Amino acid sequence: MKAVLSVAPGGPETLLISDIAPPEPKPGEVRITVKAAAMNYPDLLIIEDKYQFRPERPFAPGAELSGVVDKVGLGVKDYLPGDRVMALPLWGALVQQICIEASMCRRLPDAVSFEKAAALQMAYGTAYYGLTERGGMKAGDRVLVLGAAGGVGLAAVELANAFGATVTAGVSTAEKGEAAKARGAKNYVICPRGAIDREKQRAVSEDLRQALEGGQSDIVVDTVGGDLAGPALRTLAWLGRFLVIGFPSGIPSIPANLPLLKSCDIRGVFWGAAVKRDVEAHQRAMDTLLDMYATGRIDPKIHAAYPMEDAVRAFAEMKDGKPIGKVVVTI
Ligand SMILES: NC(=O)c1ccc[n+]([C@@H]2O[C@H](COP(=O)([O-])OP(=O)(O)OC[C@H]3O[C@@H](n4cnc5c(N)ncnc54)[C@H](OP(=O)(O)O)[C@@H]3O)[C@@H](O)[C@H]2O)c1
Repeated sequence: MKAVLSVAPGGPETLLISDIAPPEPKPGEVRITVKAAAMNYPDLLIIEDKYQFRPERPFAPGAELSGVVDKVGLGVKDYLPGDRVMALPLWGALVQQICIEASMCRRLPDAVSFEKAAALQMAYGTAYYGLTERGGMKAGDRVLVLGAAGGVGLAAVELANAFGATVTAGVSTAEKGEAAKARGAKNYVICPRGAIDREKQRAVSEDLRQALEGGQSDIVVDTVGGDLAGPALRTLAWLGRFLVIGFPSGIPSIPANLPLLKSCDIRGVFWGAAVKRDVEAHQRAMDTLLDMYATGRIDPKIHAAYPMEDAVRAFAEMKDGKPIGKVVVTI
């Protein structure tokens, strides 16, 4: 079978499409014929050896997929060959067939396409876990999302809006801002990319305050990091929550006096580890997300779908940070 393999640490150009033997399901596993895999920023980190998990090479990247069960291992009672499923291997999705623990799969209603299903897990799972479990979000909260047109960012916009929060989007372009508005943001602020000096940071903070109701946020969803984290944290209200999700723009250093002055919390969000620690909570979250999709409350925006032969292009696009929503690879 064909697989997109990381054979050496590096960027998208280090990936190779190779032929490997199809895997056999172990007890408790199902074998899935993959139909679609969705890309996430961590896929770029994992092939560069910069992620929290470091799989042994050669390995296929790709955290989330959808497909059809083709064979079940000993002891699997919940699935049969022919079942449509989505699954979360965390890596390994860019292959024609994969074996994965049955507990990391979810049966798919017929109405959910393979592309949408693949895109519904990591970004929405992270945003949902961040906003609800870590952020304690409630209706009426003012939520500021940085990187609001990226995978996790746009999911956070949609979910916060669906739960009755008021969303302000931080984005690098007007096109991204309009995309966030189309998914439920009340307004957007164009924020600079990369390093900015102190004065510019103050100006960004002021722009964000201007856009926020009452000049403050209750929750910041930070999927960008770098020099935007400080200005965003400065907008938090008393007892606000700053959710640390990712750092495409670099790991920020935040002066400890800031959380003191607002009695606010800086809260880490490590969704992949949370899923492994509490599989039942993950399954409940996926049920909620599938239900929200079925009832039209969320709808993953597919930026582009590339065939497996163009997987390197999909990675290169993610690296640019230009996609709006999710990049999908069809297998
Ligand atoms: N904590 C967790 O459990 C968890 C789970 C999934 C993902 N993540 C992390 O969350 C972050 C977002 O992931 P994602 O899959 O949503 O990524 P994505 O779709 O690529 O979005 C990332 C956004 O970051 C912004 N950005 C700023 N500087 C960038 C740069 N140098 N390169 C690329 N993008 C840049 C871009 O928005 P603008 O153009 O608007 O600046 C882009 O839309 C990543 O750091 C990822 O590792 C964390």
